[in-house]
Amino acid sequence: MGFPKGFLWGVSTSAYQIEGSPLADGADPSNWQRFCAPGGAGAHLAPRGDRACDHYRRWREDVALIRELGFGSYRFSVSWSRVMPGGRVNAAGLDFYRGLADALLEAGIQPQITLHHWDLPAELEDRGGWLDPDLPGRFGDYAHVVASALADRVPMWATLNEPWVMMHEGHLTGSHPPCHRDFRELPRVSHNLLRAHGLGVQACRAAGARSVGLVVNIEPKHPASDRPEDLAAAARADAYMNRQYLDPVLLGRYPEELPELFGAAWPEFPEDDFKLIRQPLDYLGVNYYSRGITRHDPAAPFGRWSGVPHPTHLRTEMDWEVYPEGLTETLLWLRERYGEMPLYVNENGAAFRDPDKAPPGGVQDPLRVDYFRTHILAVRDAIDRGADVRGYSAWSLLDNFEWALGFEKRFGIVHVDYDTLERTPKASARFLSGVARSNGQSLYPPR
Ligand code: FCB
Repeated sequence: MGFPKGFLWGVSTSAYQIEGSPLADGADPSNWQRFCAPGGAGAHLAPRGDRACDHYRRWREDVALIRELGFGSYRFSVSWSRVMPGGRVNAAGLDFYRGLADALLEAGIQPQITLHHWDLPAELEDRGGWLDPDLPGRFGDYAHVVASALADRVPMWATLNEPWVMMHEGHLTGSHPPCHRDFRELPRVSHNLLRAHGLGVQACRAAGARSVGLVVNIEPKHPASDRPEDLAAAARADAYMNRQYLDPVLLGRYPEELPELFGAAWPEFPEDDFKLIRQPLDYLGVNYYSRGITRHDPAAPFGRWSGVPHPTHLRTEMDWEVYPEGLTETLLWLRERYGEMPLYVNENGAAFRDPDKAPPGGVQDPLRVDYFRTHILAVRDAIDRGADVRGYSAWSLLDNFEWALGFEKRFGIVHVDYDTLERTPKASARFLSGVARSNGQSLYPPR
């Protein structure tokens, strides 16, 4: 019972989702800041991302909160446009993250940095963003700058968060910047993200970073029936979402379904690129929220598959099926397909409806508590069956800016009142705090 000794219990956030003050201290606009500015596609998102949780000014309070709740790690991301506006190093931007890392260490909390969690300097998006073959090189430079400043105090690094989402939402559905809708762009975007990852790993190592990894989102794809068309549709969806990044990074090649899926839009990639992409990793970060039941659908706009909702399972406010078994399946599948490797669940959590104002008796969020309990037990199950899982980090510390959906979806274990910015831990925060402090023993109440 309980979890392996030294198991890391933490909470996750990302820069643009919580910081606010996007132009403070010499920072340049990012793609997301521009998305939310008047005239941008997300200008209707109120209150705008420009304030978010005001973490940029309230970070000391937030570090104290993480410490009070007893978490051992905190995963956050660095804003590229703060640290390198116009391609120049901005000391004030680096100082912000150095101060944050030092305060965490002083509070006994291990900092974990994600270098790129979707917010890109707007100027680099204007040069083509992830379609620009020069962007991976610039990412390598940026990674080197941040790691040189912080590798002496930050033990864990990740290059990218969920490259699949950047590609899919940015270039296929168009719901994230740069808001393109052209499937022919996808292979080039992926490949540039993968090259950026490879250069980022090299840069972090050269700057002395000890543990370097990548964070991907995985969603098991289950066929809607055992008809051959549905089995093939689930395999295509799995190649597109789950293996498109991991196969090149861990096996040095793309999944065989992809050239067929993209047809004439699939380019020839130089063989040497795969050497760069396949850098040895110290760990893999896994974000898990749900699974996808998939059926063959010739009318689908891309890929000839579509999702089928489960008839009875609970769904979150994001309309995502609650399916904890999928987390066990994911962790075991990673081991089976890619071999032994330290795994960290870097994000897991749920949006359920909470009141805008915290009631006097506190925020009761039993559905979220149950989501965490069942998913953490699913991690335990995977460990029992041989997966080398070293940590679990909840998404998210705070209610925050849920990208194109604004502030309406609340994922926090701490409630944020968007008028006063007051933070109030929810029942789920107390629950996770008990789990963290007891290293999982509290999940098994004495009989
Ligand atoms: C993940 C993102 C994270 C947050 C959660 C709900 O895909 O990494 O920023 O939006 O989903």
